[in-house]
Amino acid sequence: MDRSLSKLTVAFPADEGSTSRSYPIYTGHGILSMIGPVASELHIPERIIIITDANIENLYAGHVYSALLNFGFRPEIISIPAGEKHKTLDTVRFVYDKMHDAGCGRDTAVIAVGGGVVGDLAGFVAATYHRGIPFVQVPTTLLAQVDSSVGGKVGVNLPYGKNLVGAFYQPRFVFIDTKTLITLSQRELRSGMAEVIKYGTILDGELFEMIAGVIDSLLIPDINLYSDIIERCCALKASVVERDERESGYREILNFGHTVGHAIEALTGYSTLTHGEAITYGMMAETHTSVNHCGLPKEEAHRLCSLLLRLSPPPLPDTIDDEQIYLAMFNDKKVRSGVLRFSLINKIGDAAFGESPEPHYVKQSVRKLFTIYKDECEY
Ligand SMILES: NC(=O)c1ccc[n+]([C@@H]2O[C@H](COP(=O)([O-])OP(=O)(O)OC[C@H]3O[C@@H](n4cnc5c(N)ncnc54)[C@H](O)[C@@H]3O)[C@@H](O)[C@H]2O)c1
Ligand SMILES: [Zn+2]
Repeated sequence: MDRSLSKLTVAFPADEGSTSRSYPIYTGHGILSMIGPVASELHIPERIIIITDANIENLYAGHVYSALLNFGFRPEIISIPAGEKHKTLDTVRFVYDKMHDAGCGRDTAVIAVGGGVVGDLAGFVAATYHRGIPFVQVPTTLLAQVDSSVGGKVGVNLPYGKNLVGAFYQPRFVFIDTKTLITLSQRELRSGMAEVIKYGTILDGELFEMIAGVIDSLLIPDINLYSDIIERCCALKASVVERDERESGYREILNFGHTVGHAIEALTGYSTLTHGEAITYGMMAETHTSVNHCGLPKEEAHRLCSLLLRLSPPPLPDTIDDEQIYLAMFNDKKVRSGVLRFSLINKIGDAAFGESPEPHYVKQSVRKLFTIYKDECEY
């Protein structure tokens, strides 16, 4: 078994009043037991709180716990309930209380071991507990390995909108063990693949073509293929966040599919569809908007939408309709002066941000989602 670590660095240039900063992303297969020396080399404090969820606690958090303990750290595990509907301020409060009871001060670090829900919530705890303590990401879903663990966006949902409370707070390092994907369900694998397709679509036409060519074998975890995809997506994300850490413009391209997707998640109580499934629908709708607003060629739109449909998101529940989705989009963080703003596609591999298409185009594209399986992405 290959236990070598490959390393990629996220580097932020120095700006007024601050020096340059950087952190490494380590990737490898079966590497969890190697986290101790890395944490030590990067001066992570001895006292560590591992935040995980009820599913991952026995699968992987225990393993990270032992690896750290064996290397002289003093770890403790705090487990939260699994699932997007627990990415809330109530759960944050639960963790603060546990950390306080455990006597954690500023000399404590937080390590998130789990998917994007655990990573986003644990990062928010680390950013705010005692005004900020060191943070490490150990992502265990495909979605978290290709996207959420890199870039420093942390936060939680409010009942009416996604990620409406949060911070930009970079981890000290990211530690990606691709072996953890072996236990991931088909549904979660497909959800992660949605973000991979997003990266190809907005930034890397070659990656898009590669995914389109091997989508069938990707829906069973072929670890060799996944390692390359994960490293490629991390490098793409790093290149975006290095240019615009706090999303003052360019970083918005990463939100392709997310204006519609987040609205669907909020309307369905963060429990019917996974994040990846919601943004699969979001990307299908925003592809349609891109045809009308950005001149995305219909043939490319059809290919993109058909690829997304291969991920087979469950049908949208009949408790929601297109008008509700449209209205829910106004809770999006990109809205300015009451006007919706989108990240759209000019052509595959080339995205635009800050776009405000005609409302009737937006409404039409959301309406199409309810017949997308029947229409098979005809534009
Ligand atoms: N911060 C960012 O930049 C960013 C980017 C993209 C997405 N996100 C956020 O990420 C979240 C979605 O993340 P997610 O899809 O990882 O969801 P998740 O964390 O809910 O994980 C999905 C499910 O898989 C289980 N799981 C995790 N790892 C597993 C493994 N190796 N084997 C078996 N089961 C495993 C979890 O317990 C959970 O039930 C959303 O809240 C989204 O907003 C954040
Ligand atoms: Zn996302």
